[in-house]
Amino acid sequence: MLYDGVDDMAKHWKLKSAILGLGAGVIGAIAVPMAQGRTAWDGVYSEAQAGRGKAAYEAQCAFCHQSDLRGQGFAPGLIEDTFTSRWQDSNLGDLLTIVKATMPQDKPTSLTDDEYAAIVAYLLQANRYPAGQQDLRADPADLKAVGFKRPGTQK
Ligand code: HEC
Repeated sequence: MLYDGVDDMAKHWKLKSAILGLGAGVIGAIAVPMAQGRTAWDGVYSEAQAGRGKAAYEAQCAFCHQSDLRGQGFAPGLIEDTFTSRWQDSNLGDLLTIVKATMPQDKPTSLTDDEYAAIVAYLLQANRYPAGQQDLRADPADLKAVGFKRPGTQK
């Protein structure tokens, strides 16, 4: 009986890790956040990456969205309620994909994948999502599984 239970649990975790595109080998370290579904609150980018993203944002995005990220004219704000209400029910993969496919508006897809990922990290930092140890990877399929809402809450 006990053995069956453990076995089922292992299968369950394997399934989750397959869904998230992660190897079964890393289960031990991140089983708990994974079982709950990762979100932007789990420290999914690093401080250093957000710093690179800020520099890229200043160079490539601030002209329209402004240095304070509050937007101007047709360019929407990328901070606080404007950002939260837009992305609350979405995920990091869609944010990365849309930014890459449509921005900078005058030359979409002109930056490197690393630059786009760093800019997304900077947007997370500016919106007070916590930093972690690892860089955000520029992999939209992987990031699709990372939502914005804190598990079990509206924010
Ligand atoms: C030439 C002006 C311009 C530049 C430069 C620019 N944007 Fe935009 N951005 C816009 C406009 C206008 C919109 C609204 C229309 C749209 O969504 O295409 C927009 C919309 C957005 C949105 C909201 C998309 C959505 O679906 O809600 C995001 C996020 C964004 N920009 C991020 C960026 C980032 C990151 C950069 C730098 C890599 C950037 N923008 C550079 C003009 C610009």
